[in-house]
Amino acid sequence: MTRLIIDTDPGIDDAMALFAALASPELDVAGLTTVFGNVTVEVATRNALALLDIAGRADIPVARGATAPLAMDYLGAIPHIHGEDGLGDGGDLAEPSRPALDVSAAEFLCREAPGATILAIGPLTNLALALRLRPDLDTLVEQVVVMGGNALGPGNATPAAEANMWNDPEAADVVFGARWPVTMVGLDVTHQVLLPGDRVDAVTSGDTPTARLLARAIPLYRAFLTKASGQDGIYLHDPSAVAYLLAPGLFRTKRWPVRVETQGISRGKTWPNLGGTDDPAPPAWQGRPLVNVCVEVDAPGVLDLITARL
Ligand code: BDR
Ligand code: CA
Repeated sequence: MTRLIIDTDPGIDDAMALFAALASPELDVAGLTTVFGNVTVEVATRNALALLDIAGRADIPVARGATAPLAMDYLGAIPHIHGEDGLGDGGDLAEPSRPALDVSAAEFLCREAPGATILAIGPLTNLALALRLRPDLDTLVEQVVVMGGNALGPGNATPAAEANMWNDPEAADVVFGARWPVTMVGLDVTHQVLLPGDRVDAVTSGDTPTARLLARAIPLYRAFLTKASGQDGIYLHDPSAVAYLLAPGLFRTKRWPVRVETQGISRGKTWPNLGGTDDPAPPAWQGRPLVNVCVEVDAPGVLDLITARL
């Protein structure tokens, strides 16, 4: 069984990823760490605790993380996608039954991540801060699976950048440059994993606490995509990273060194060196580790896997 820590900014697709992970016997969710992103870290932490209550897993610790990126102010929440409350504004949300731990997310990661896998589905600030606190952490963690980035195609927060990278490019560049094995589950694959409307209805029609939460959360997220692109459905960004953990064979990966742009109009863009480490690698990519970048996905397989778990 994989011991797993989920770093998250819940977030509607974060909630789906969390519920899918909790329903998976292959995964032992040992803790949640929270980060600003879709919402402030205060709201993200409240949501993480509330989601665990709803799933009947108030035994799982939650450590509150960064309030802002490493090198800039927090860009702000995105209520038109995730709601003011981060969970679709679909009615009252019960107050959590307990508070977060009194250690920071970075401290929690330093203590608990050795020997574990980190699933990072928000901006990568907490991971970068943990590496500052414990510089050998990247030699102790089993693997890091990141939902974020766009190796070969466009972004979603800007034409260049995916949202989790855009929210803290400096941190992302640290995480992709560290020694731990990293897999990037980015928009190259998650934009193919569209759960169509009729299958969204199937997920949200269940008579369970988690299905009822998704039924209050998903409509706003679904309406955003319909308004933006005319499609009826939702992208399973964060749940696709859970699918990678459960069934990596559903993805085809390439191993490239990855840099994250921190300047100008392309800030937040993930740049793989498609030539690998071949000599002469451009200086900015020299000496960088190879990241496992997902480039193709069996989308029907991921949809079946995630809907079965939900
Ligand atoms: C990512 O950004 C967030 O809005 C989602 O929760 C997901 O982690 C997709 O680009
Ligand atoms: Ca997220």
